[in-house]
Amino acid sequence: MTSRLTEIDHVGIAVRDLEAAIAWYAEVFGATVEHREIVESDGVEEALVRVADSYIQLLTPTRDDSPLAKYLEKKGEGVHHVAYRVANCADALAAVKASGARVIDVTPRPGSRGTTVAFIHPKASFGTLIELVQVNN
Ligand code: CO
Repeated sequence: MTSRLTEIDHVGIAVRDLEAAIAWYAEVFGATVEHREIVESDGVEEALVRVADSYIQLLTPTRDDSPLAKYLEKKGEGVHHVAYRVANCADALAAVKASGARVIDVTPRPGSRGTTVAFIHPKASFGTLIELVQVNN
C-alpha cells in the first residue's frame, strides 16, 4: 500500500503573541505570512508562513476559554500539532478509526483555507496531536 500521507501540510506552533511571532520569523528568516485567518469555531487566529510546499502555522487563541488557551496555560508555547496532507480526509480518518485509535473528530470538518480536516487524539499517536488535511483546490 502506498502511504496515505502525501506531504507535511503544516506544523502548528502555539504562541501567545501572534504579531511578535510573525515579526520574529520575518526578521530572523525573512519568512513572510502567506495567509491569515480567524477560525471562530476553534477560537484561534492563525498565520501561515510558507516553507517549500508546507507551512509553519503560528497559532494564538482568540478567547480565554478556547482549547488552545488552555493548552498554552498548561504546556506553554511550542509545537502544538503536526498536520499531514491526505488525498481524502474521510478515507484516512476511517482507516484510523478502523485501527481502533482514538480520534477527536469523528467526522471530517471544515478547516482554514477551505480545507477539510480531522484531528487524531495524541493518546492514539504516541503523544503527538495529528491533523489530517485534505486540500480542496
Ligand atoms: Co493545523
